[in-house]
Amino acid sequence: KAKRYDGARGLRFAPVAPNRDDKVTVPEGYAQNVVIRWGEPILRGAPAFDPDKQTAKAQAGQFGYNNDFLSLLPLPGERGRQVLVANHEYTDEVLMFKGYDPANPTREQVEIAWAAHGLSVVVVQEENRSGKLTPVTRHPLNRRLTATSEFELTGPAAGGALLRTSADPTGRKVLGTLNNCAGGTTPWGTTLHGEENFNQYFANASSATDKRYGLGTGATERKWERFDKRFDAQQEPNESHRHGWVVELDPFDPDFTPAKRTALGRFKHEAAQPRLTDDGRPVVYMGDDERFDYLYKFVSSKRMMKGSSRAARAHNRTLLDEGTLYVARLTGDSPAAEIDGTGKLPNDGEFDGSGVWIPLATGNVSHVPGMTAEEVYVFTRLAGDKVGATKMDRPEDVEPSPRSGRVYVALTNNSNRGKAGYAGADEANPRNANKHGHVLELAEHWDDPAADGFAWRLFLVAGDPTDPATYFAGFPKDKVSPISCPDNVAFDPHGNLWLSTDGNALGSHDGLFGVATHGERRGELKQFLTVPTGAETCGPVIQERRVLVAVQHPGEVDGASVEKPASAWPDGPGRIVRPSVVAVYRKDGGDIGV
Ligand code: FEO
Ligand code: CA
Ligand code: CA
Ligand code: CA
Repeated sequence: KAKRYDGARGLRFAPVAPNRDDKVTVPEGYAQNVVIRWGEPILRGAPAFDPDKQTAKAQAGQFGYNNDFLSLLPLPGERGRQVLVANHEYTDEVLMFKGYDPANPTREQVEIAWAAHGLSVVVVQEENRSGKLTPVTRHPLNRRLTATSEFELTGPAAGGALLRTSADPTGRKVLGTLNNCAGGTTPWGTTLHGEENFNQYFANASSATDKRYGLGTGATERKWERFDKRFDAQQEPNESHRHGWVVELDPFDPDFTPAKRTALGRFKHEAAQPRLTDDGRPVVYMGDDERFDYLYKFVSSKRMMKGSSRAARAHNRTLLDEGTLYVARLTGDSPAAEIDGTGKLPNDGEFDGSGVWIPLATGNVSHVPGMTAEEVYVFTRLAGDKVGATKMDRPEDVEPSPRSGRVYVALTNNSNRGKAGYAGADEANPRNANKHGHVLELAEHWDDPAADGFAWRLFLVAGDPTDPATYFAGFPKDKVSPISCPDNVAFDPHGNLWLSTDGNALGSHDGLFGVATHGERRGELKQFLTVPTGAETCGPVIQERRVLVAVQHPGEVDGASVEKPASAWPDGPGRIVRPSVVAVYRKDGGDIGV
């Protein structure tokens, strides 16, 4: 008989203790299976993975590298099956190729890396009504999109001069999606994918706008510019403008050309998650993951059509092309003198205040003096700078609670906060040299996602709970797990918030945590799992009977290589380390945390 645990409904499990074990550690009474690994074939004709015989052609039909965001969508008509969509954020060549020479990558290695980037769509099958999932290889919906697949630029900036290149004078067709970090799932059955650190793929940049986006002036680490001139900003200055967008994919239509939605602005998109207004218009919340960058939302002017008819699907694919893009400004309600940069709570007992959404552009109309609408979309960071948006501590994943509508923003850390030459602490980012990050909770006025103002408060100030500069929504700190560097956020069917971490600065491995957002247990944070050496926990999906996580970059430790691995996960010593998706479920078949 299964043991009963204390906690909010959905969070009744024995917390996993912080550790540095080279494995996925789950709570007592839970089991796990590796759903799919880097390199497993998913398309018809793709060969089995052979680390010593990798080819670009094989990789283009296999699951990509460094799985990040995950979405699991129902697949009507096929019992026990769901559609898994995964992001493949980036490649780590020293962990992929034996004898890799970073100064002289071969063309084949570069082309394998192109094919290992992007997105995967793969149908998965539940085994014996357990939580265990296995891939259905060669399912007709299975699909790979890579750094060389065709994408369409849509919305107000598409076709404009800033998006045209010598290879694409139309400014509407772009090859590839790069650095897909987190994402979102829309109520109309598509998925959204944030193109994050795209700057790292472009060499020899020199413009001021490129600098604001972090493009480098010299060669890139991967040297792709040697193999395709579009990665050389000297030769193709506009190619980088065609990356840094939110991608929309329809996983149910293998013929759909995925779209880069310019109305949602261009920055280091971490993720994008919509919520509908009462009249059915999607509002998409988005973070720009950079120290001192901004929080955004897009409010569509079009209403979603219900159902999955051909007409509804066609209409809904236009929802993210028309509307208004906003950036957030947050103001604290405590005197500035009470925010001393240590994380000490101000006298009113909370880091909280009010905020406004500042409009940047609506369709072809700019609201930013001195910038055209096209410039606002392509150089959105500069628009945020001009209107005085609030500089945040690296906005990662942002998601509205499907239960309450409150929006949760993971602010992962900011080593430069308060340093000479940088902004100091404010009430929304109250710790200087913020090592462990915090989570902000935002409530739109009148609970209307299209509102132009909101109230906010810090829900969590992360760290070791014995550290006085931490806060867990007021919950007793002797009853919570330590947490550091929140990154991805998700909700379970009970309305609890789940947080995965990246870069734990408390000396133990990254992991996944659940926390109640409402009721007496609000703020009671419990660790559900930890990941292997060098890995980050990504893409959590919390279903009734299963938790799905992407174990990203296992073994990514300074000095590690294929020959000198830092991890033996998932297949044991002597086998190549492989980023993989893991399902966790209860051994007795019961619901998660109940
Ligand atoms: Fe790719 Fe902001 O994490
Ligand atoms: Ca306050
Ligand atoms: Ca992330
Ligand atoms: Ca991160």
